[in-house]
Amino acid sequence: MTDAIARADARPAPEVLAAFEAATGFMPVDEGLALYAAAVDAATRTGLPVLEIGTYCGRSAILLADAARRTGTVALTVDHHRGSEEQQPGWEYHDPTLVDPAVGLMDTLPTFRRTLHAAGLEDHLIALVGRSPQVAAVWGGRLALVFIDGGHTDEHATGDYEGWAPHLAEDGLLVIHDVFPDPADGGQAPYRVHQRALREGFEEISVTGSLRVLRRSGG
Ligand SMILES: C[S@@+](CC[C@H](N)C(=O)[O-])C[C@H]1O[C@@H](n2cnc3c(N)ncnc32)[C@H](O)[C@@H]1O
Repeated sequence: MTDAIARADARPAPEVLAAFEAATGFMPVDEGLALYAAAVDAATRTGLPVLEIGTYCGRSAILLADAARRTGTVALTVDHHRGSEEQQPGWEYHDPTLVDPAVGLMDTLPTFRRTLHAAGLEDHLIALVGRSPQVAAVWGGRLALVFIDGGHTDEHATGDYEGWAPHLAEDGLLVIHDVFPDPADGGQAPYRVHQRALREGFEEISVTGSLRVLRRSGG
C-alpha cells in the first residue's frame, strides 16, 4: 500500500470516533471520515496546521484535532460561539440548552470545551473565538486544509472563502460542508462558494454526502 493510499483510508481510533458520534453537532459519520482522511492527507503532505470555520460544540473539531495529533501538527477552529442564523431562538436548529441565561444569547463555547476535554484532545486544538473575517484578516500563517462550516448565508460563506482560501498552501485542501446542488435539499450559499472555487482553480477530489474536498492547484 502506498503512503497516499494509506492516507486516503486513514480512520480515527475507535474511541475518537465514539467521541465524535457522542458529540452534539450536525455531521454524519461518513462525512466525518472523509474530513478526517483529508486532514491527515493534507497535514502529512505539508506539515502545516488544519483550520475549521464553525466549531459549534466541537463534533467535527474532534476529528481535526485527532488528525493533527496523528500527523504532528495542530488544528485550529474559529467560531464566535453565538450560533448561526438558523440556530437562533425560533429557528429550525435552535437548541435552548445552549443559551447562556446570564446574557440571553447562544454560547456553545462551554459545551465545546467539555467535549474536547472528554475526548483528551485539548492539546491538539487551538480555539479562536471571534468572527471569521476578523480572525482571517490578522492570520499570517499558511494552512494545510481549510474546512468551511460556518454561517450559511452568502455573506458568511463568501467571507469564509475570501478570508481563508488565500492562506492555503499550494496543493492544500479546501473542504466545504453542506454543498447542495439541488435547492430542494438545502441552502445554496455553500454550493455557490463551491462553484466559485472550481472556477478559481480548485479541482474536486472527493464527494461524500454534502461534503466536498477540493485541491488547490499549483498553477
Ligand atoms: C453548522 S455550525 C458548525 C458545526 C460543526 N462544524 C459540527 O460539525 O458540529 C456553524 C457554526 O458557525 C458559527 N459561525 C457562523 N457565522 C460565523 C462567523 N461569521 N464567524 C465565526 N463563526 C461563525 C456559528 O456560531 C456556529 O457555531
